Amino acid sequence: MFKVRYLSHSGFFIKTKKDGILIDPFISQNPLAKFDYEKEDITSIIVTHGHSDHLGDAIPISKKTKATIFAIHELANYCSQRGASCIGGNIGGPIKCNWGKLWFLPAFHSSSTPDGSYAGCAASVLLEIAGKRIFHAGDTGLTQEFKMIADVYEPDIAILPIGSTFTMGVNEAVIAARWLRAKTIIPMHYNTFQPIRANVNEFKNLIEMNSQECLVLKPNEEFDV
Ligand code: NI
Ligand code: MN
Repeated sequence: MFKVRYLSHSGFFIKTKKDGILIDPFISQNPLAKFDYEKEDITSIIVTHGHSDHLGDAIPISKKTKATIFAIHELANYCSQRGASCIGGNIGGPIKCNWGKLWFLPAFHSSSTPDGSYAGCAASVLLEIAGKRIFHAGDTGLTQEFKMIADVYEPDIAILPIGSTFTMGVNEAVIAARWLRAKTIIPMHYNTFQPIRANVNEFKNLIEMNSQECLVLKPNEEFDV
């Protein structure tokens, strides 16, 4: 069993017996995030792409805690040049981790580092922990890739952006959820800024009409898997 905490925006913290896994740690520049990384045992940091609302505090946290950053090759190079411990990968097969397996999978989005340099492609990620599969879509538009991900990887939980403008909006994310066939759907990447305001109750209703469970988490809210 492990715990999944929503940090707000696209940030999550997964706590297993031995590991602490951060995903897209956008914290210090995010007024909604209340995560104190110095109080947590962080061993891995997964970054879906280079945009500052996803890379966030990954580099300083890695330098402070020695946690390993997992990112697409070019972004991992950018982070290691700035003193972080990194493992680079790319869209493809699984990467073995202390806590399970990690896949970088397709996302339909752009990616650059905070200084504007090339960060490789944007990715979604699939985590396998204690036999459960959690899919975090990163930033993406609606893409047929979700059908492939459902067929090949059968995620139990799918975390999807719903804020529109930079990613899928509510209606696109409802279709993505249906294609992914995950039992539990969690919305993210909404209401952090004005351009990504979304009606999460409408999203929840539409997901439940598809007979899927919709877990709407408040910042800092945690659930058991
Ligand atoms: Ni982005
Ligand atoms: Mn974003």
